Amino acid sequence: MNIFIAGGTGAIGRVLVPLLVGAGHKVVALTRSADRASQLERMGAVPVVGDVYDETRLVRSVAESEAEVVIHQLTAFGTKDGDPYEETIRVRIEGTRNLVSAARAAGVRRIIAQSISFMCSPFGGGLTDEETPLYLDAPAAVRALAEAVASLERQTLGASGMSGTVLRYGWFYGPGTSYDPEGSIPRAIRQGTMPIVGAGAGTYSFIDLRDAAAATLSVLAHETSGIYNIVDEAPVPLNKWLPFAAGLLDAPAPGQIDEASARQKLGDLRVYYMNEQRGASNAKAKRELDWQPAFPSWRTGFEALYRAGK
Ligand SMILES: NC(=O)c1ccc[n+]([C@@H]2O[C@H](COP(=O)([O-])OP(=O)(O)OC[C@H]3O[C@@H](n4cnc5c(N)ncnc54)[C@H](OP(=O)(O)O)[C@@H]3O)[C@@H](O)[C@H]2O)c1
Repeated sequence: MNIFIAGGTGAIGRVLVPLLVGAGHKVVALTRSADRASQLERMGAVPVVGDVYDETRLVRSVAESEAEVVIHQLTAFGTKDGDPYEETIRVRIEGTRNLVSAARAAGVRRIIAQSISFMCSPFGGGLTDEETPLYLDAPAAVRALAEAVASLERQTLGASGMSGTVLRYGWFYGPGTSYDPEGSIPRAIRQGTMPIVGAGAGTYSFIDLRDAAAATLSVLAHETSGIYNIVDEAPVPLNKWLPFAAGLLDAPAPGQIDEASARQKLGDLRVYYMNEQRGASNAKAKRELDWQPAFPSWRTGFEALYRAGK
């Protein structure tokens, strides 16, 4: 199959591109940087240098790729040129708009886009599923992200003339993510700057990057559309995984901060993540995509990740 991927050099893209190439697909991948273009070449893809905000060039690149499928793995959490949240909001809204319109102009028949499972309403008990509403009535700092996620999902699912699939990934862990042993989370844990907020009841659904990438192959193997949660089997509250990770990292036991002080010092978004978010169910993906996480628990995943470097 001819595939055009935007975001092939990101944390998941670097795992996904070789997987697609290995499965026999012809992959054309967008990057803004000549350096990362050579990285894409080494992964077996054909690189095109361009920016998703350069609409004219994007339309040409997607058309020239003769893609049947467009894969959207754009985020900007790694940006050094601006605020990562503001830039990710922009890429989810404007980047998606440009990618969908370039795909439509090129006669692409499927689009698969990256979303997140951890932007759902925290109200109601148990795990979220694909019917759970996004947290659009959240405090402003959370709402801005939720609205961007809603826009990405709406544009993907509503793309005219194409079938749209949204993969709502759990929290990525693995090389190059913020949970990488040298990433921002282990660094904060080692420095003692990542406390348990309130009761630490925020429930994380994690996903190993390799399982996240494999889900796209499952989508390609099925004529399906809609939203799928791609998360592991072991949703876990912050108050359980954070002390466990600290132990693996030989870091001090995490401190504690009450919720009101955390709102002041850390902001509403971190309070949502650390004390409010619900975990997500992967039942629909298992049922409809024949996808199964090969790394079903973050616990063994973290052990492998953090003990490997010792
Ligand atoms: N579910 C999750 O937990 C989740 C999801 C996403 C990200 N994250 C985390 O966020 C951090 C950074 O993510 P990341 O490594 O994926 O990197 P990133 O810096 O956010 O970039 C992701 C991809 O988007 C592309 N991109 C961004 N803006 C673009 C634009 N204007 N035009 C064309 N391409 C553009 C980048 O391409 P080029 O730079 O090559 O141009 C790159 O391939 C990591 O810690 C990651 O784990 C977590």
